[in-house]
Amino acid sequence: MQPERMVIGGSRVDAADGRTLEVRDPADDRVIALVPDGGAEATRAAIDAASDALAGWRRLTARSRAELLRRLASLLRRDRDAIAELMTDEQGKPLAEARGEVEYSASFLDVAAEAGPQFAGEIVPSSTPDRRILVMPEPLGVAAIITPWNFPLAMIARKIAPALAVGCTVVVKPDERTPLCGLRVGELALEAGIPPGVVNVLTGRPQPIGAAILDDPRVRAISFTGSTEVGRMLMAGASRHLARVSLELGGHAPLLVFADADLARAADAAASCKLRNAGQTCICANRILVEAPVAEEFLALLEARIRLHQVGRGRDAGTTIGPLIDDAALEKVERHVADALAKGSRLRLGGARVERPGLARRFFAPTLLDGLDRSMRIWQEETFGPVAAVGRFRDEAEAIAMANDSPYGLAAYFFTRDASRLMRVAEALECGIVGANDALPSTAEAPFGGVKQSGFGREGGRWGLEEFASLKYVSWRI
Ligand code: SIN
Repeated sequence: MQPERMVIGGSRVDAADGRTLEVRDPADDRVIALVPDGGAEATRAAIDAASDALAGWRRLTARSRAELLRRLASLLRRDRDAIAELMTDEQGKPLAEARGEVEYSASFLDVAAEAGPQFAGEIVPSSTPDRRILVMPEPLGVAAIITPWNFPLAMIARKIAPALAVGCTVVVKPDERTPLCGLRVGELALEAGIPPGVVNVLTGRPQPIGAAILDDPRVRAISFTGSTEVGRMLMAGASRHLARVSLELGGHAPLLVFADADLARAADAAASCKLRNAGQTCICANRILVEAPVAEEFLALLEARIRLHQVGRGRDAGTTIGPLIDDAALEKVERHVADALAKGSRLRLGGARVERPGLARRFFAPTLLDGLDRSMRIWQEETFGPVAAVGRFRDEAEAIAMANDSPYGLAAYFFTRDASRLMRVAEALECGIVGANDALPSTAEAPFGGVKQSGFGREGGRWGLEEFASLKYVSWRI
């Protein structure tokens, strides 16, 4: 098997010592590619390339950069089906979701291409007649983009699009389990005409690459999506050279269903939110809480929807739930279910691995549990699997207290037909994203990000650009 190559300074590059890592299909453990184990040396080379390319890239007009981002978006769309197959092979998600992720990724490039030329400074009225005050946004410089395995393409697009639009150059480090979509981005960026060195893509084990990024004073921004634990380490490391950090970390979304809600709509939304990407999203509902008088009715509706889902290989027609990313992920889901059952939860559906000849033992049946409470691990930790756990609340005050009973604060959802309650609850929820009668809020125009231990920084719309810009104030005496 011919190893893939990293994209550094416009060239295709192997690791200096020739070492490679295997990339495996999580559905059957088949080795689908070899990628360089880049390490510190490749990281320094990528930062060199990004630094060298910076002056030329930031000098381009915002409109020229936007045009190149649009070309990259159209190349992603041109190659949508091939990239989707690659994504399904490296990550496991169903092909339809993978195609959707390619479109979602292209939309981040489109939105940044619109926002870049509008990303203007200000002239502030001065308190003295002989002074003019100019406030000018400028690119921070070289940005390190560190992305997770659950959305191998979209998380890269969501970060590089605003960085490039503002005039930063980037060094991208995709998760070592899913590096192939990232490498395609590097290749397509060159094909789009983005100058060599502006987009560099590294592959390899995270530790040496992360250490080399944190060691280098030329890296002025670090944007990371992943676990809260790694986010903390990066933030501590970034303090050495005071690089700007933007962190999109773990979530633990509550989904509240009030008795006055459209229950069928709430059940549709809860099932899609929970089972998208086999439950492996930072914003999927981990605690579904229903007002007690309608809980039975809601559970029956949710159960009917979950039953429609089909577990299988992402490439097989009809599959809606693929494998979990690795054995550790599956074991965590098993632990969460066993713990909930031991503490009094009632199993309504699923609850076990799905075993098929020829497939890895990494598939978990879509599961519905009733009787969730705060003593259970599901309440305390992100499950990251296809387990819908349902608890009950008495009234609005208790619902809000239960929803906010988490150190995380990425997304929260609620369903109601009462307009006053809608605003009260939206204001009371401690999180960065609220879905009001909506459990699929992700879109490239809106600011995505969290509060509390879900991190800080926003991605999407013009807010995404702000993360990669600093403000220069020019005091002009006339
Ligand atoms: C995530 O899981 O972090 C991203 C989910 C999304 O963009 O909808």
